[in-house]
Amino acid sequence: MRIGQITIEKPILLAPMEDVTDLPFRVICKKLGADIVYTEFVNSDGLVRGSEKTRKKMVFWEEERPIGIQIYGGDAAAMEGAAQFAESFDPDLIDINCGCWVRDVALRGAGAGLLRDLPRMEKMASIVVNAVRKPVTLKTRLGWDAGSIRIVDVARMCEAVGIQALTVHCRTRDQGHKGDVDYAWISRIKESVSIPIIVNGDIVTPQDVKNVFETTGCDGVMIGRGAIANPWIFLHAKHYLATGELLGEPTLEDRVNLLKEHLRLAIDYKGERKGVIELRKHYSGFLRGLPHVSKVRNELMQFTEAGPILDHLTRFLALYSPAPLSSQRSAAENTAA
Ligand SMILES: Cc1cc2nc3c(=O)[nH]c(=O)nc-3n(C[C@H](O)[C@H](O)[C@H](O)COP(=O)(O)O)c2cc1C
Repeated sequence: MRIGQITIEKPILLAPMEDVTDLPFRVICKKLGADIVYTEFVNSDGLVRGSEKTRKKMVFWEEERPIGIQIYGGDAAAMEGAAQFAESFDPDLIDINCGCWVRDVALRGAGAGLLRDLPRMEKMASIVVNAVRKPVTLKTRLGWDAGSIRIVDVARMCEAVGIQALTVHCRTRDQGHKGDVDYAWISRIKESVSIPIIVNGDIVTPQDVKNVFETTGCDGVMIGRGAIANPWIFLHAKHYLATGELLGEPTLEDRVNLLKEHLRLAIDYKGERKGVIELRKHYSGFLRGLPHVSKVRNELMQFTEAGPILDHLTRFLALYSPAPLSSQRSAAENTAA
């Protein structure tokens, strides 16, 4: 797949996710093999107002490259300014969010709201493309609802105005994050345009990644919730694509060490209290498969400082590792009793 200067074969991308794909999580996913990462969506109105919180979402580290900054909004002038501001951070690409389904965004004519007004989406995309020198990509859904799927027209329009890649979450706005994804549209889009098409939606296992590449002919695969639940998915899927073999689950030590690293990154980036509190949403994914995971998670949730979390994790590791999982389970049962 080629976007501007970026050329990657069968890339696996980390999806933009508000309150999730902050700098620490992106660094972790990058380390685990994500080929392209994206910031959380950045509100163009917030940028125009000079909000520091919004500005901070665009900060990234060199090791994250290639990285895209995603912007959203319903006002073309604000989006133009936001794109230029985003470009001043020197990302590898700028992505326009035309897929967010939440009411506050979509019903105000931003995000997936633009799927109800394709001429406005076209104008917005064109203004952003012309406002910056960086490649501009766009992320959207199949359509507003099942009765108004216009994704092939959207893809043609994107290509015509100079969008350099299109990501399609294969659901409609009406579906939110529920219901079946429909990947069948991807081959129809591929027949109609030559810009890269990235598929997104319910891709959670290495087999899913391979299946989507093979059955849709897409150029890239983007993973969102699958990476929260299992950030190792990037490494595992790449290995599976290359060899046809499935890697074993990460060990308890891998999980605990990665969680500790994430904690350190979160604290460096956000300060101790905020870093600790915001890490809580990642416990389930990182510790998945551990004996008594919910008990451990609940215990970790009580802490607001790093020291007790690190101690707790170290004790936990000593208790359950390196014994095989079956004996870890019985050890846990004895301890819990
Ligand atoms: C917590 C959360 C936050 C999200 N925030 C964004 C966002 O900021 N920008 C965006 O384009 N999509 C956002 N999404 C949608 C995801 O990027 C992705 O399209 C969707 O989750 C479907 O992919 P998945 O099944 O791999 O999760 C978000 C999804 C979740 C679960």
